[in-house]
Amino acid sequence: MLDQDQIRSMALEVLLVDHPLVQHKLTLMRDVKQSSTQFRSLLREISWLLCFEITRDLPLEQKAIETPVEATRAPVLSGKKLVFVSILRAGNGMLDGMLDVIPSARVGHVGLYRDHETLEAVEYYYKVPGGLDQRLVIVVDPMLATANSAIAAVQRLKDGGARNIRFVCLISAPEGVRAFNRAHPDVSIVTAAVDNNLNEKGYIVPGLGDAGDRIFGTK
Ligand code: PRP
Ligand code: URA
Repeated sequence: MLDQDQIRSMALEVLLVDHPLVQHKLTLMRDVKQSSTQFRSLLREISWLLCFEITRDLPLEQKAIETPVEATRAPVLSGKKLVFVSILRAGNGMLDGMLDVIPSARVGHVGLYRDHETLEAVEYYYKVPGGLDQRLVIVVDPMLATANSAIAAVQRLKDGGARNIRFVCLISAPEGVRAFNRAHPDVSIVTAAVDNNLNEKGYIVPGLGDAGDRIFGTK
């Protein structure tokens, strides 16, 4: 797994969340012996922390309120409600945690699966809220491997009008970060780990295996 210095020296445009709690929980998730129940619960908890990181610079405005002591002005989020877009299926494992932190967010879904031979993303579902052009859109998917799925999802959202997009994942591969940076240089990536490489089947190494299967117990 790459550290901050290695990420910098490889010129990868990605924000690594190296908070000790995130790193500890991620290690528990990687363990092949971890149950689906625990895996889901850890993913949800890490998503809380990633959500705080990816929304760190959201704009605020001052609102007039009254505390029990006096009238004052205090900060609240400004602008239209943001949108979380989950890349199905595994994105839903992160979506729950993101919605715990921002329950008022709107939610979209892009259904994509990887063709196991070509590793190309195949779309089977698309449903997103209106007004994408006026909202921050945060795309969630635990795995950024070749990045074919994330690149396709973000392109679909741009075609639908989205202008302000961010991408958050649990584990990324250097190959995927590089491909995503090239395809969408305007979309920032937040991740809990940049792993070593992809294997010949397009799996992240060391990774955690198939995220969807581990979340939903479908293996
Ligand atoms: C996984 C994962 C990503 C994709 C990443 O989904 O959740 O969407 O692979 O791989 P890529 O970067 O090479 O495109 P998968 O296709 O296995 O579908 P699933 O979530 O339905 O299991
Ligand atoms: N998708 C996954 O779920 N895991 C990988 O390692 C790569 C793509």
